[in-house]
Amino acid sequence: MTANTVSGRVDDLINREQSAIACPYPIFAELRQEDGPVFNQHLGAWLVTKYDDVRLILRDTERFSSRSPTGPQAAGSVLMERFMELSQDPTMAPYLTSITAGRGQAAVLLNADPPDHRRQRKLVNPAFRPDRLRGMEPAITQTAKRLLDDVVTQIQSSGQVDIVSQFAVGLPMAIIALALGVLGDDLATFKRWSDDIVMPVGNHSPTLAQVRGFIVSSNEFKEYFLARIALCKEEPAENILSDIANAVIDGEELTDDEQLGMLQQFLVAGNETTTKLITNIIHALAADSALQMRVRSDRALIEPLVEEMLRIEAPVGGLFRQAKIDVKIGATTVPAGDHLWLLFASANRDQCKFDQPDSVNVDRVNVKDHLAFGNGEHFCPGAGLARLEACIATEVLLDRLDRIMLAPDNDFVYEDSFVLRGLKRLNILATPIL
Ligand code: HEM
Repeated sequence: MTANTVSGRVDDLINREQSAIACPYPIFAELRQEDGPVFNQHLGAWLVTKYDDVRLILRDTERFSSRSPTGPQAAGSVLMERFMELSQDPTMAPYLTSITAGRGQAAVLLNADPPDHRRQRKLVNPAFRPDRLRGMEPAITQTAKRLLDDVVTQIQSSGQVDIVSQFAVGLPMAIIALALGVLGDDLATFKRWSDDIVMPVGNHSPTLAQVRGFIVSSNEFKEYFLARIALCKEEPAENILSDIANAVIDGEELTDDEQLGMLQQFLVAGNETTTKLITNIIHALAADSALQMRVRSDRALIEPLVEEMLRIEAPVGGLFRQAKIDVKIGATTVPAGDHLWLLFASANRDQCKFDQPDSVNVDRVNVKDHLAFGNGEHFCPGAGLARLEACIATEVLLDRLDRIMLAPDNDFVYEDSFVLRGLKRLNILATPIL
């Protein structure tokens, strides 16, 4: 724990101290009082906390680049040190050769800038078109019901259940696997890849074991998907994998690297974030019986509840941009080349934009104005899918479980990341509806 100044508390957040990552909102509220972004030495970036500033920067790809969306390179130097240590281990040689060859590291989507980014989005946007989403609805409902059968069995046998591991992880996992054409048997491996590959996001001091897992899983992922892409070229199917494998944009095919990079982003983005959203919704319902009763009796409130939870507990707390030229924001001039941490989690609680920002209010008039999915050209292409999954998950949950409550033994420990925010586990009590 560092000094109790605001910059000391930001350092605690970057160092992933539980007290800071469990509740970073007072730090952000304090930073919003400043007239412009504040530089944090430890992170090597400016913290942008006000709604209008975050939105403006997100929409300005002329002056701000997305090439380092998870933070400045210097802060990732521990990762490089670990890579060097592992390069001494002969068993890691084949994995490291592939990484140093740069396979799967092309600038795509999240870390691409125009004009490449626009070319790539032309492919990705139709993959999530409304008719494709409608086509996924039955599978989402069926998967949610199947998972809840097991949840009910566990509640009947032990009185409570960890809704994260038993429900919130499984649903997005199964759905993104389906969208990417991954076979059922591969699901556990798929989850391991997802956990290992997302590890460096919001963790600037990984252990050797974590980096080893990252390298091995990245390689396994690439080998698996190169083979599946080849299959999809021979036999196209109605899924995102096939769209990516067979894409021709402006007369050009995507390179192997672009295809792998996109698939990796879908895996991580489609999984971890939606799990956190579903967990947060269940947490809110279990903690507030009046809210639960209201939503139970008026299911039209599920949609605004999903939006409110995205706002008040943004699963992606913030991502980075790099200034291409000197830019004045408020009273601050951010020099060209500097990194900015755009804090969606703070913007979403900006009192200048949202009334009583720290309370859940499903009647909020501007309930969809949050920045949890970003804004502008990089706006999350999976937003429709995430919303659909969250709405169906809540509907099916309320149909199957009555009187959902927090179990007394919860520890409320958050994931070890200063970027992604979500509980590791959440024990609930409930009365099954049979
Ligand atoms: C609650 C769930 C989700 C949240 C909170 C979320 C959040 C975000 C945010 C904030 C961005 C903007 C990044 C930026 O501006 O730099 C983004 C981009 C992205 N998201 Fe999501 N996301 C979610 C679900 C999904 C799903 C389900 C998928 C795919 C199946 C997905 C795929 C992507 C991809 C590929 C990008 C990069 C787009 C680009 O840079 O053009 N996300 N997401």
